Amino acid sequence: MDGPSGSGKSSSARGVATRLGLRYLDTGAMFRAVTWWMLERGVDVEDPRAVAALAEEPVLVSGTDPQAPTITVDGTDVAGPIREQAVTGAVSAVSTVPEVRTRLLREQRSIIGDGDIVVEGRDIGTVVAPDADVKLYLTADPAARAARRTAELSGADVAATEQDLVRRDAIDSGRATAPLRMADGALHLDTTPFTLDEVVDQIVALVQQAR
Ligand code: C5P
Repeated sequence: MDGPSGSGKSSSARGVATRLGLRYLDTGAMFRAVTWWMLERGVDVEDPRAVAALAEEPVLVSGTDPQAPTITVDGTDVAGPIREQAVTGAVSAVSTVPEVRTRLLREQRSIIGDGDIVVEGRDIGTVVAPDADVKLYLTADPAARAARRTAELSGADVAATEQDLVRRDAIDSGRATAPLRMADGALHLDTTPFTLDEVVDQIVALVQQAR
């Protein structure tokens, strides 16, 4: 499952994995975890050479239970800190660095293994798992996406959230390596008019048809 921030990917990916008894991988959390580690060390995240030089350093462990996804960096639980504004503001810059992508691609493919997993991100259908049984591209209107994100983050401002989503989308779609785009053979699902349960129902039906 690919798509921009706030398209409903995370909640629906977790819902689908839970319903079908599959594992779940949030690749965005991996990029956020590397970014958190870089910020902790005072690395200038706008300097691609500095980021590239340290891309292999942090040790990540991603748990794949859809009901309790976990992520640690060098043994520290970072599930909370990776959602903070400092990381959200820096993650798209770190994600443009090819050395970071190559490193995480290796780990994502190793976790995916033989499959039975729902994977969400920006380049899953195009780069990470082009042979996936079901490829989905989720979108939603920017205003709906901002409203969903604001509801998740207490005290956040809708207009500022929308601005940040649009800024990150532009970086994610415009980068040279593995830009955000719909994969060949992917199904486009605009989640704007649907509730989470309705989106999960539709995806579960597609997966069942494909199996
Ligand atoms: O999905 P989430 O919003 O947590 O992802 C954070 C950032 O990680 C994205 O804005 C994007 O820059 C990067 N990302 C990526 N490739 C992925 C998943 C996330 O570049 N497969």
